[in-house]
Amino acid sequence: MRSNLILFLFLLSFFLFDCESQPHRQGQILYQNFCANCHMDDGSGLAGNIPPLAQSDYVSQNQGQLACIIRNGMEGQVVVNGKTYQNPMAGIPQLSEFEIANILNYINQAWENDYGYLPLKTVRENLERCKQ
Ligand code: HEC
Repeated sequence: MRSNLILFLFLLSFFLFDCESQPHRQGQILYQNFCANCHMDDGSGLAGNIPPLAQSDYVSQNQGQLACIIRNGMEGQVVVNGKTYQNPMAGIPQLSEFEIANILNYINQAWENDYGYLPLKTVRENLERCKQ
């Protein structure tokens, strides 16, 4: 009996920990599928053409804009870490608000970034303010 209980608790804790790591993992998988082509697995971008997301002053200072950049893309000049980039990024409209939140929270903690946590509620509010 007792060993059954221990086994049960063990499995339960495994299950709980596994759930907790899911959002971050989903963010990472989505990042690899939708962003890494251009911004690279390590977030370093492509010199002169695609700005970095790793250690990016732009990412750290424009947290409220990031959800709309993913949904609608961006164009025109952008300066990241003192370098100017000017290639359009297409939006990825098929990503849900959950998926966008998970991608952003992955980016905010990946590659020694330490840009805090964006709750789903904040991401939703930011998306409501996107230009159509
Ligand atoms: C086809 C290539 C491409 C893909 C795919 C892409 N981007 Fe971009 N991204 C760019 C380019 C090019 C810019 C610069 C846009 C400009 O010059 O206005 C940019 C700019 C950005 C910026 C603002 C500047 C910076 O680097 O801090 C963020 C944030 C960003 N992208 C995030 C993402 C995320 C997250 C994804 C995946 C959901 C993604 N991008 C997918 C090409 C891409």
